[in-house]
Amino acid sequence: MTFDGTDFHAALIHELKNNLGVLSMTLDRIPLLGEAEHDAMVDSARLLCQRVVGRLHQALLIYKAANQQIHPTLDAYSPHDLIQEIEAMANALAHGRLQIGVAVARDLPALWFFDRDLIEMALLNAIHNALAHARSFIRIEAEMEAGRLALRVRDDSSGYPEHILESVADGRPYTATGTGLGLQFARLIAESHDNKGRLGELRLSNDPGAVFCLLLP
Ligand SMILES: Nc1ncnc2c1ncn2[C@@H]1O[C@H](COP(=O)(O)OP(=O)(O)OP(=O)(O)O)[C@@H](O)[C@H]1O
Ligand SMILES: [Mg+2]
Repeated sequence: MTFDGTDFHAALIHELKNNLGVLSMTLDRIPLLGEAEHDAMVDSARLLCQRVVGRLHQALLIYKAANQQIHPTLDAYSPHDLIQEIEAMANALAHGRLQIGVAVARDLPALWFFDRDLIEMALLNAIHNALAHARSFIRIEAEMEAGRLALRVRDDSSGYPEHILESVADGRPYTATGTGLGLQFARLIAESHDNKGRLGELRLSNDPGAVFCLLLP
């Protein structure tokens, strides 16, 4: 294997990610004082730090995927717990600015096999997108769809632009308002989930707001 400039950047990102991880743990140890201004500052510093760590982690995974395959660690997890955690994070990020709703199907299995960290990251990206684009609400949904677990983030934005829908469906890179990594990353994560030859999928649609849907076999 030759070591080129990209490997150097990946190594650098890796180091930054680890250092920020330590900073994040340090911030987690700062006690809240029950004093609004102080606590709000600590909270936003924590959230920002976690977000940057997540970002760098994703950049590394995308680098890895370009060079080899992403190998998810599949384990049995509760989709109910996952949805609850995503809801809590969405509420923390929305600061009451948007209404966060949840709809979980009655027949949702107690356990499903997936890579908890990767799926959480993909869903959080979708939440960040929804926070930037939604007018008034975000709804997190989970149900079974033709034998696959469907995890959705739905909002009342004006929907995904047409070129994004087309590019993501074809697996082509796209120009975005931000870094444009979020949806590419979610697609890689979804497709790396494989259960006896049945693959995961990222499905984007407008109904009429944006609907982000991960289908996990
Ligand atoms: N919920 C949404 N509603 C409307 N448009 C959206 C929504 N989510 C994403 N988009 C559009 O899709 C584009 C691509 O999203 P993606 O998450 O890949 O990149 P980004 O948010 O621009 O940057 P990044 O997530 O890398 O910081 C966005 O720039 C935006 O135009
Ligand atoms: Mg995004």
